[in-house]
Amino acid sequence: MKVDTPEEYYNKIARAYNELYGEEQLQKALFLKQLVDFSEQDLILDVGSGTGHYLKVFKGKFVCVDPSKELLSKNPYEKYVAKAESLPFPDKHFDYTLSLTAVQNFSDINKAIDEMVRVTKKAIYISTMEVSKVNPILKKVLSSKGLRFTNKKFNKEIFYIIELK
Ligand SMILES: C[S@@+](CC[C@H](N)C(=O)[O-])C[C@H]1O[C@@H](n2cnc3c(N)ncnc32)[C@H](O)[C@@H]1O
Repeated sequence: MKVDTPEEYYNKIARAYNELYGEEQLQKALFLKQLVDFSEQDLILDVGSGTGHYLKVFKGKFVCVDPSKELLSKNPYEKYVAKAESLPFPDKHFDYTLSLTAVQNFSDINKAIDEMVRVTKKAIYISTMEVSKVNPILKKVLSSKGLRFTNKKFNKEIFYIIELK
């Protein structure tokens, strides 16, 4: 039996996404808001944004990328069909980058982190589920690049706060 790629899966559930996961992801965004205070002037990239419904809790100007056209069709922000591994933006274009519960879907975490670091000036915020197998891989990739990060836990989610120079 053929297994859906992440894009195929998210395209299929796009219509029901906010109903299924909206409240859960909104709570994660509210937690992140306690950790970081974006200003109205900040330009912020959301990688694997999906519908981006939770971005309404923040100040700042948001740009979203996601490979799922169907999820993006429900996203009201400036948006691009793109993957974390190849971000269509110049170096240091954004003040901040965030990515909520999406890193487990990236096909190449090493490349995705390189891309996020390349386009970001100040800090990157990534969240994953605590049980996800991606956590040891992500920690190893961040450490191998000499990136300084701290972790915060909220319910069953781990947040990685990566400060850039
Ligand atoms: C669990 S959803 C999270 C969506 C959104 N961040 C939220 O919190 O509601 C995972 C997202 O990762 C996206 N995704 C899958 N592969 C990706 C990749 N290679 N690069 C960026 N995003 C990807 C999916 O399309 C999906 O929107």
